[in-house]
Amino acid sequence: MTTTNGAIENGQPDKKPPMLPKPATNLDIQHRQIFINNEWHKSISGRTFAVFNPATGKKMCEVEEADKADVDKAVEAARAAFQRGSAWRRLDANGRGRLLHKLGDLLERDRVLLATLESMDTGKPFLHAFLIDLEGCIRTLRYFAGWTDKIQGKTIPVDDSFLCFTVHEPIGVCGAITPWNFPLLMLIWKMGPALCCGNTLVIKPAEQTPLTSLYIGSLIKEAGFPPGVVNIVPGYGPTAGSAISHHPDIDKVAFTGSTEVGKLIKEAASKSNLKRVTLELGGKNPCIVFADSDLELAVECAHQGVFFNQGQCCTAASRVFVEESIYPEFVKRSIEHAKRRFVGDPFDPRTEHGPQIDQDQFDKILELIQSGKEEGAKLECGGSAIGEKGFFIKPTVFSDVTDDMRIAKEEIFGPVQSILKFKSLEDVIKRANSSEYGLTAAVFTKSLDKALSVSSALQSGTVWVNCYNALHTQTPFGGFKMSGNGRELGEYALAEYTEVKTITIKLSQKNH
Ligand code: NAI
Ligand code: MG
Repeated sequence: MTTTNGAIENGQPDKKPPMLPKPATNLDIQHRQIFINNEWHKSISGRTFAVFNPATGKKMCEVEEADKADVDKAVEAARAAFQRGSAWRRLDANGRGRLLHKLGDLLERDRVLLATLESMDTGKPFLHAFLIDLEGCIRTLRYFAGWTDKIQGKTIPVDDSFLCFTVHEPIGVCGAITPWNFPLLMLIWKMGPALCCGNTLVIKPAEQTPLTSLYIGSLIKEAGFPPGVVNIVPGYGPTAGSAISHHPDIDKVAFTGSTEVGKLIKEAASKSNLKRVTLELGGKNPCIVFADSDLELAVECAHQGVFFNQGQCCTAASRVFVEESIYPEFVKRSIEHAKRRFVGDPFDPRTEHGPQIDQDQFDKILELIQSGKEEGAKLECGGSAIGEKGFFIKPTVFSDVTDDMRIAKEEIFGPVQSILKFKSLEDVIKRANSSEYGLTAAVFTKSLDKALSVSSALQSGTVWVNCYNALHTQTPFGGFKMSGNGRELGEYALAEYTEVKTITIKLSQKNH
């Protein structure tokens, strides 16, 4: 493996990072085939597709391209693994927990390698992949490993001649269709609860970033999961992805990605077998800063909130509402932060900000920046590409943004901060809620009353107070409105991977 040369300097970091892990060198990308029944397969069509490094634009390797016929094969394997009496079904809850812990151990063992691969595949800084993505994956596997033997039904009092109780059973064969912004983390958010509850899986990683998901195939086998429990079919959305969402023998699909494709998945479910669908889609998340907030904290959180992961986050703080009296100062400090953000080689330990994922996203972001200029927002900094290779865009700040502008309405999924002005609490609540999305929101204030009043009024799956992107494995994550259906993580995720069976027994003797 060679890292890209020369940081593209947008600014200088304040201080040197402490001693931190170094990326793996001489990486040999071994796992490039379709993973079914714990074995590696070539595609039935004979086709492969290329995977690129977005920091250099260079091709890294070719991966076998799964299509409908390969998905059918994977579903057959997953169905056989789910049959009554199979090795997986015979395994008790404790055994499932041990396997998930073992998988967690293997991710810890290979953490540097996985973070290196994830960084090369997505362009995200290696240290972010190591410290954030991999940490999240390991914690999620451990968390769900602990739940396997604690999934319980209820005994429900009914008429006195009956005994009634519920049993929570696995749903069956689950499809997982994942995005490219957090390829491994979004996979583990689905795999953890799915396997915890005893389901089997057919996974389609995003075509831009299949490499870490495929590597997980090798760890699944090494951990000792029975064949067919986890199957991985790299390929494109309209072919392999659509084959999953339309499949008559898949019982549930979990999806993270665009709202547009989320709608297609629900449609496919309704046209096929009404499979259960959970969706984690876009956001246009309000970040509300009151004049009584800790200003530096709010500026820093709003900055990280929108620029983290090159802005490619469904949680991105893409509408920052700032109270009138502190607006000029907030804008000034936000520009300073954006100019200081260190953009460059994802393997340079100073780098905070890498390239966008691909040409499509790069073009979409620049087009939205152009629309901001044309619609009258004030471009304070950034606004253009940077560097000679790869898909780098300068951290961009717009002030004087108004609600009707496209940059205030559409998900940009790039490094673009839009700062809007508000006058009153009532005004900002109304404007924050006037979006088709409702994924996350943040409030910055020192007033407890304001924090609670605004939190309760916001139509949003998550509200952060005086913090941003504070995600925890133990807490549910998901959206109101068009940001999706269902919840990932936490105890709530278990409900998305189980069916509830009610068993009612007629007693021959009355109780009294
Ligand atoms: P996308 O929704 O097309 O891709 C996500 C996943 O869906 C990929 O695995 C893709 O192969 C699959 N997919 C695509 N078409 C499909 C179909 N017809 N049936 C089944 N699966 C299908 O997202 P894309 O095009 O990569 O990005 C477009 C926009 O979506 C972004 O600019 C961003 O606004 C949003 N997005 C949101 C994400 C999130 O975290 N919520 C993640 C990725 C994208
Ligand atoms: Mg798409």
